[in-house]
This record gives sequence, C-alpha cells and structure tokens, in this order.
Amino acid sequence: MMRASFFPLATAIFAAIEPITATATSNTSEPRAAAVKATFHHAWDGYYEFAFPHDQLQPLDNTYNDNYDGWGASAIDALSTAIIMGHADIVNQILDYIPIVDFTQTPTDGTISLFETTIRYLGGLLAGYDLLNGPASHLINDQNKTDAILGKATELADSLAFSFNSGSGIPHNNIFLNNQSWDDSSTNGLATIGTLVLEWTRLSDLTGNQTYANLSQKAQSYLMSPQPSWAEPFPGLVGSNIDIESGEFQDDQVTWNGGDDSFYEYLIKFYIYSPSRFSDYRDRWEAAANSTIENLTSHPPLRPDLTFVRNYNNGSWDNSSQHLTGFIGGNFILGGTVLKRTDLIEYGLNLTAAWHHTYASSTSHVGPDSFGWNETQVPDDQQEFYNQTGIYSTNGNYILRPEVIESYYYAWRITGDEKYRDWVWDAYVAINETTSAGSGNAELANVYDADGGGYQNNQDSFFFAEVLKYCYLTFADDADWQVKANGLNKFVFNTEAHPFLIQE
Ligand SMILES: *[C@@H]1O[C@H](CO)[C@@H](O)[C@H](O)[C@H]1NC(C)=O
Ligand SMILES: *[C@@H]1O[C@H](CO)[C@@H](O)[C@H](O)[C@H]1NC(C)=O
Ligand SMILES: *[C@@H]1O[C@H](CO)[C@@H](O)[C@H](O)[C@H]1NC(C)=O
Ligand SMILES: *[C@@H]1O[C@H](CO)[C@@H](O)[C@H](O)[C@H]1NC(C)=O
Ligand SMILES: *[C@@H]1O[C@H](CO)[C@@H](O)[C@H](O)[C@H]1NC(C)=O
Ligand SMILES: *[C@@H]1O[C@H](CO)[C@@H](O)[C@H](O)[C@H]1NC(C)=O
Ligand SMILES: *[C@@H]1O[C@H](CO)[C@@H](O)[C@H](O)[C@H]1NC(C)=O
Ligand SMILES: *[C@@H]1O[C@H](CO)[C@@H](O)[C@H](O)[C@H]1NC(C)=O
Ligand SMILES: *[C@@H]1O[C@H](CO)[C@@H](O)[C@H](O)[C@H]1NC(C)=O
Ligand SMILES: *[C@@H]1O[C@H](CO)[C@@H](O)[C@H](O)[C@H]1NC(C)=O
Ligand SMILES: *[C@@H]1O[C@H](CO)[C@@H](O)[C@H](O)[C@H]1NC(C)=O
Ligand SMILES: *[C@@H]1O[C@H](CO)[C@@H](O)[C@H](O)[C@H]1NC(C)=O
Repeated sequence: MMRASFFPLATAIFAAIEPITATATSNTSEPRAAAVKATFHHAWDGYYEFAFPHDQLQPLDNTYNDNYDGWGASAIDALSTAIIMGHADIVNQILDYIPIVDFTQTPTDGTISLFETTIRYLGGLLAGYDLLNGPASHLINDQNKTDAILGKATELADSLAFSFNSGSGIPHNNIFLNNQSWDDSSTNGLATIGTLVLEWTRLSDLTGNQTYANLSQKAQSYLMSPQPSWAEPFPGLVGSNIDIESGEFQDDQVTWNGGDDSFYEYLIKFYIYSPSRFSDYRDRWEAAANSTIENLTSHPPLRPDLTFVRNYNNGSWDNSSQHLTGFIGGNFILGGTVLKRTDLIEYGLNLTAAWHHTYASSTSHVGPDSFGWNETQVPDDQQEFYNQTGIYSTNGNYILRPEVIESYYYAWRITGDEKYRDWVWDAYVAINETTSAGSGNAELANVYDADGGGYQNNQDSFFFAEVLKYCYLTFADDADWQVKANGLNKFVFNTEAHPFLIQE
C-alpha cells in the first residue's frame, strides 16, 4: 500500500521543484523559521555570556567545558548557521574572535581528536569562508575578515598534519598537539579515518597546497581497497578497526552506527563535492548502498512495516541501532537523487519513517540515543512498551543530536511533502520545550519521561551547527546552500552540517 503512494512521488522528483517553491512562502513557514532563529540566539547568548571563548556552555550553572581542544568549539561550530540565519551580530562576534585563536597549541595538556577537530573546527572555518566569500558576502563589509578565516584554517591544518606520520599514512586520531605525539593506540577507526577527505581536500582546493588533499586521500585509500579481503564481507561494506602502521583491517564488523557512520556518508558526499575527480567514491557508495539493502535491511518482528539496518560481525547479526545512525535515511535520499535511483530514495524515506517512529513512540516526542528490536532481549520493564511499539530503548538519553531531523530535512527538500516539514516542527517543539534549561539548552536524561527526565549539564556545539541549522533550513526560503530536489546542488554539507562550495 505504501509502495503505491511512493511511486508517483518518486517520478515527480526529477520533474519539478515546484512543491518546495510553493510551500516555502506558505503561512506557517515564516514564523517557524523565526522561532528556530530565536532559539539559536538564546542559546548563543548563554554561551557568549558564560562560556565564550571556551568550548561549550554548561547551562544549568553557567559554567563551561573545554572538551574539544579549548579553542571555542561552539563559536566556530555556530558560524555557518549564524551566517545562514543572517544573524549579523553573532557573525561579527565570531569573526572578531577567529584571528586571535592560536591553533598552533592547545590550552590543555590532554589528547585532542583529529576527527572531531577536522569536522567541527576545520569544517566550520571552511564553510564560513565559502559562505562569506560567496552567497552571504553581504553580511560583512570587510574582505580581510573573510580572508583571515582561510588563513586560520590553514594554520590549523598545518598544526594537525603531523598526525599522518605513520608507516602507512593512516593518521593517529588521538594526538598531543603541543609536542606532536600521540597516544599508544595501534588502530584507528573507519569513521575517524574516513571522514577527513572533504575538509582536507577543500582546503587544498582553496589554497593550492595539494599536501592536505594528498594526506587525507592516501589514508582513505586503505578504506577504498580493504585488506585482507575478508574485511569486506559484503561488497562496499567493510570492517571497523584498521592497524595504523600496516593499513590492514582488524575485523569485519559492519555497521552504519557511530564509529563507522560518516565513512559511508562521505563516499557519496565527496563525489558530489567534485564529480569529475571522485567517481571511484561514488562507485564505492553505490556498492555499499546496494549491499545495505540486500543484507542489512531489518524489520522489527512486531512492526514489519518499519525498516531499520542491522549490524554484522563475523557471521553474527545484531538487531539494534542508534540515534547517530538516523542520518542514513537522508544519506540514501541524497545519494538516490544524485544517482537518479528512485529505489534508493524510497528506501531512504522508509528509513526516515522508521527513525520517526523512535520519536513518535517516545513520551517526550524526542527519540532515544540507542534502541533494539531483538525479541529475545527485551528488558523486563519494557515488555509492554515493546508490545506496543516493536522496539525497546537501550539508552534513553538525548544529547542534542541532529541525525533524525537531518533526514527529515532531506526528505522534505527532495519530495516537497509537507509531512516531513511537520515532523521537523514536532521535533523542534519537543526539543525546545524539554531541553530549555538555565542559560541555554541542556541534554536530556530520559526521553521516556514527558519532561525529558532531568538534564545533563552540557550544551553540545552541534546544537548550533546541526540541530538548529537543519530545523531552520526546513522553514527557510530556497537559497544556494539548500539541498536541491533536482540533484544540482551548489553546496554539500560536511558531517557537522557545514556547507562547502561544490567544484566540477
Ligand atoms: C494563508 O493565508 C491566506 C490569507 O490570510 C489564507 O487565505 C490561506 O488560506 C492561508 N493558507 C494556509 C496554507 O494557511
Ligand atoms: C607529550 O605531552 C603529553 C602531555 O603533556 C605527555 O603525556 C606525553 O608523554 C608527551 N609525549 C612525548 C613524546 O613527549
Ligand atoms: C585589508 O588588508 C589590506 C592589506 O593588508 C590593508 O591594506 C587594508 O587596509 C585592510 N582593509 C581593512 C578594511 O582593514
Ligand atoms: C603545504 O602544507 C604542508 C602541510 O602542512 C606544509 O608542510 C607545507 O609547507 C605547505 N606548502 C606550502 C607551499 O605552503
Ligand atoms: C600529491 O599527490 C600527487 C599524486 O600522487 C603527486 O603528483 C603530487 O606531487 C603530490 N603533491 C604533494 C604536494 O604532495
Ligand atoms: C571470527 O570467528 C572465528 C571463530 O571464532 C575466529 O577464529 C576468527 O578469528 C574471527 N575472525 C575475526 C575477523 O574476528
Ligand atoms: C547497484 O545496484 C544497481 C541496481 O541493481 C545496479 O544498477 C548497480 O550497477 C549496482 N552498483 C554497484 C556498484 O554494485
Ligand atoms: C547477502 O544478500 C545476498 C542477496 O540476497 C545473498 O545471496 C547473501 O547470501 C547474503 N549474505 C549473507 C551473509 O547473508
Ligand atoms: C538476539 O539476541 C540473542 C540472545 O542474546 C542472540 O543470541 C542473537 O544473536 C540476537 N540476534 C539478533 C539478530 O540480534
Ligand atoms: C518501503 O516500504 C514499503 C512499505 O513497507 C515497502 O512496500 C517498499 O518495498 C519499501 N521500499 C524499499 C525500496 O525498500
Ligand atoms: C506482550 O506480548 C506477549 C505476546 O503477546 C504477551 O505474552 C505478554 O504478556 C505481553 N506483555 C505485556 C507486559 O504486555
Ligand atoms: C521555546 O522555548 C522557550 C523557553 O521555554 C519558550 O519561551 C518559547 O516559547 C518556545 N518556542 C516555541 C516555538 O515553542
């Protein structure tokens, strides 16, 4: 039954972007966009007053943490969203700050993550540059401030480049910047290696220094042709841990969960970034997408209408997933649009509807951090909930994550179906209501309590970069940076939702 309704939709997809243009000016979208903008400004004001230039606000008692290198993670992560929302006052506060950050050393002694630093800081700086140097240039009247962003991105990458000094060229992820060393891990992960090419290649394309692109693509080459061959148990789907010195995979554990997720995400996004150069990435993504449909598709026994993806490890299967994995619907919708494969779009819409169920079936209307549908593992105190919903929770936290809303955004942009916009609004209203706390927005302890079950004292930087950006874009007018229903995108979003200017 649902299939029949999907097909006319899918055939309309490449024919017209009419629905989106028509509804972008509908009566509800403007006040909704304004509400999201107001939430962003409120969260920013709390951060700016009590935490800046530290990394993240702890809104319950107006304290802060430096969990992401101590260079003002929230400020850099917020920049591209502030630009897109047209918050000129906030953009100027951030631009005044960027030139004075010292990316050659960290304020604290511990290790920093190459992956997190790349997606939040390098990604945030490069997107700020691409937007202010392009479609948002009207927001500032001093090109020097824009140029300074690229200078600082270069300083940051130059500081990080030593991470790639290994026998294979695979980087160490947990690094001590101050003395250019690393922890004693002998392995690095699929996502932490495979979520660098977009940022490091964009920097090379902007500066003309090919070294950044070469470093990231050399590391990625071990993921594109996995060794030993058993590490690719299904075409395109690969293991999770890689030996840093040899480049050999250590296991054949296949998931789209945290640790693996954005490796698959970037295969198609890197092709979209520069289709003339990176068609091999497209082919690897398509192989992974085909195998995901064939081998990972899983329907909860009590809800055969819902489509999730299961996990594989050395011959065993595991029916569980995460909020983090909720980006997968949007990734299939994006890839299907660009490859003109309506079956992939339809599969992505099915996945998006399944993660919507994790929100709709929760008392607070916010989804849990992780959940399962293995009927032999239902916790005793969740039997009734499992009988009603077909899933059970394995972690009821909500830590201001974006992935489910991200997929709704792609579903809305590609189909023009107002249902997806309503899903974004429902999620926004529930998140705004439950997470508003102290001077900003705080993580929730238990989404199965109507009020969110109390707080964890942190306002994650991706609340600015991702949650509020995808909400806002859903209700905002069309623009160069918006995802396009006809597949002819001008920007592609990194995994932290920072948009980069697409090349040939
Ligand atoms: C929008 O507002 C106009 C005029 O106030 C009204 O006629 C129309 O029905 C409204 N449309 C929607 C979708 O609410
Ligand atoms: C680098 O600095 C860290 C933190 O100060 C320290 O633990 C580590 O031993 C140092 N490594 C080297 C090779 O000096
Ligand atoms: C921009 O930088 C140039 C070269 O450093 C300098 O001559 C100029 O005065 C600067 N412009 C502004 C508005 O600061
Ligand atoms: C290019 O970047 C690398 C890596 O940071 C750096 O070592 C090198 O000096 C840069 N080359 C130029 C010409 O700036
Ligand atoms: C980058 O890699 C290409 C292809 O292997 C090579 O020709 C070029 O010299 C490299 N450039 C730098 C700066 O490492
Ligand atoms: C898979 O399981 C078998 C049997 O337990 C074991 O011998 C083998 O090392 C495992 N392979 C991997 C890649 O973990
Ligand atoms: C994926 O499946 C489609 C449809 O069956 C097929 O046309 C395509 O060649 C496959 N791609 C890869 C890389 O396996
Ligand atoms: C993966 O799916 C294909 C096609 O349905 C099937 O032939 C193959 O046996 C599956 N592999 C596993 C390990 O289930
Ligand atoms: C379900 O749980 C049982 C018992 O723990 C386990 O043996 C089985 O592998 C699990 N199956 C899936 C598909 O998760
Ligand atoms: C999407 O879900 C519907 C309803 O369960 C199903 O009929 C259809 O085959 C699914 N589409 C894909 C591509 O998996
Ligand atoms: C859940 O459903 C099973 C099977 O229908 C039934 O035996 C059990 O009593 C139900 N449990 C609860 C708590 O509703
Ligand atoms: C968002 O939450 C704030 C604080 O509770 C509240 O004042 C505001 O009305 C809410 N906005 C919407 C659109 O619900």
